[in-house]
Formats: sequence, structure tokens, C-alpha cells
Amino acid sequence: MCPVAEDKTLLILGGTGEAAALAHRLGQVSGLRMITSLAGRTRAPAAVPGKFRSGGFGGAEGLARYLATHKIDFVIDATHPYAAQITANAAAACAAAGVPRLILARPPWQQQLNDRWIRAADAAAAAVVLSDLGRRVFLTIGRQDLAPFAARPDIWFLVRAIETPEAPLLLANYHLILGRGPFAAEDEAALMQEHGIAVLLSKNAGGQATYGKIEAARRLGLPVVMIDRPPLPIGETVLSVDEAAAWAEARVPAVPEPPSPHP
Ligand SMILES: NC(=O)c1ccc[n+]([C@@H]2O[C@H](COP(=O)([O-])OP(=O)(O)OC[C@H]3O[C@@H](n4cnc5c(N)ncnc54)[C@H](OP(=O)(O)O)[C@@H]3O)[C@@H](O)[C@H]2O)c1
Repeated sequence: MCPVAEDKTLLILGGTGEAAALAHRLGQVSGLRMITSLAGRTRAPAAVPGKFRSGGFGGAEGLARYLATHKIDFVIDATHPYAAQITANAAAACAAAGVPRLILARPPWQQQLNDRWIRAADAAAAAVVLSDLGRRVFLTIGRQDLAPFAARPDIWFLVRAIETPEAPLLLANYHLILGRGPFAAEDEAALMQEHGIAVLLSKNAGGQATYGKIEAARRLGLPVVMIDRPPLPIGETVLSVDEAAAWAEARVPAVPEPPSPHP
């Protein structure tokens, strides 16, 4: 009698559209259990197939303990390209626990003809270059990285968030709007014109959902201060959900064929 292969457990580190798409893609794979982990920043995240957990693990050591306790067979780090801490933690924890790890990193946007990009190494560098470019800034980099812009009462920020923040933002002079992508270029251009925006401040997130603002800035001839991506740790990396799904499927044992009725 053939031994029955055990189910495999995949931990998806999420918080992106790609992580959710991957969970949906792998939801029907027999022999595969999935757990999607979110940081817990969004109050009402969209449901995904498989199990779901929320909140930090407690650093790389905490994540390594989680891998052992939950018998995780492999990990796909599908976090946002700027979520550098969890990506570093995943690299360290998987190495310590001997658990295979894949990074799913969507390709960055490439500068096009007529794009006016000014690259900044990080948010602090972006805050320095901003004032030479204009005093009305559309800030689209998330709420975690606002500290370098706090001491800038000379700049008015239009800030977009997915949910109403629990506390006022760290900025001296701002207007908050709520919105969840995808955002069309026409709508982004109209929004920027309505608010008299002079500069767009962005991360190079990649993907289509938030590319509309980049297209809109190009059409309006506006400069874009583009914060560089943090470097990725060494490790196997793919650029698409399809490739990540194939990597996971290759690690799940094939379901044995039922015995033939006519030997
Ligand atoms: N940074 C962005 O621009 C951005 C944009 C869109 C979405 N996101 C998503 O938002 C989440 C937080 O981003 P961040 O930039 O704050 O991350 P980060 O700086 O890399 O991580 C900070 C801490 O948050 C916890 N954490 C982050 N992602 C987690 C996950 N998927 N599951 C469990 N714990 C997680 C970890 O806590 P412990 O050390 O306690 O484990 C980590 O050390 C990520 O899941 C990311 O995919 C980020």
C-alpha cells in the first residue's frame, strides 16, 4: 500500500493584492493548507481562502517559533516592497528554521518619456528635496513614514488613506481623503487639479492599482519625488502570482491516482 502523503502548510506573509490573489489561486490545491498573515494595520481586511492570522510575531525569533509551532513547510513573503522589516525577519527566521522561503516582489514601475521623477533614497531624503519643487504635495506613501514631514508647516499635504486614522496625522498642514485603489489616471489627474497639487510624493510600489497617479502626474507635467525601494534580502524571488503559485504547487505531493478497476 502506498504511504499517504501528508498535507503541506504554506504561510503567506500578506498585506498586498498579490498575497490575496495568491491565496485565491492556491485555495483549491488539494494537499495544501494555507495561513495568510497580516500585520493588523487594516481594521476590515478582505477575506481570503485558508486560515488567517493578524498581528506581529515578535521579531525574527517570534516568527521562527511560529514556523515550528504551526509546522510550516514553506513561506511565501508576498508583503509590500517597502515592508523591509518583516521581509528581513522572514529571511532570518526561515534560515534559522530551515524552512524554504520565496519572495513575491512585484516589478517596480519604470520611468517613461515625459515622467519627471526625482529619486530619493528614503522618506527623510524626500523631505529635503520637496521644498524646492512646490508647496502643495500629494502624499501617497502611507501613514507609517510621515515623521520626516512633520516639521514642515510650509508645505500643505493632500494625504490619502484607506481608513480614517485613529489619531491625527503627524503633519502640521494637511487635508485627509479616504480611498482604496485601483485609481484611474483620469480621476487622479482631476483630484490633483482640484487641489492645486504641485508635486506628487510616491513610493515605487509597482503594479496597476496605484499607477494612475504616476500617469496623471506625467499628463499634468508634475514632478514626482519617488522614494527608492529598500533592498531585498538574498533569496529566491519571483515577480508574479503565477510564478509564486507554481513554486508552491511544486512543493505539494501529487495526489496518487485511484487504482485501476482493470489490473
Ligand atoms: N510599507 C508599505 O508601504 C506598505 C504598503 C501597503 C501594504 N503594506 C503592508 O502592511 C503591512 C505592514 O507594513 P510595514 O511597512 O509596517 O511592515 P514592516 O515595517 O516590514 O514590519 C513592521 C512589523 O510589523 C509586523 N508585520 C509586518 N507585516 C506583517 C505580516 N504580514 N504579518 C504579521 N506581522 C507583520 C512585524 O512585527 P513583528 O516583528 O512583531 O513580527 C514587523 O516587524 C505589511 O504586511 C505590508 O505588506 C505595507
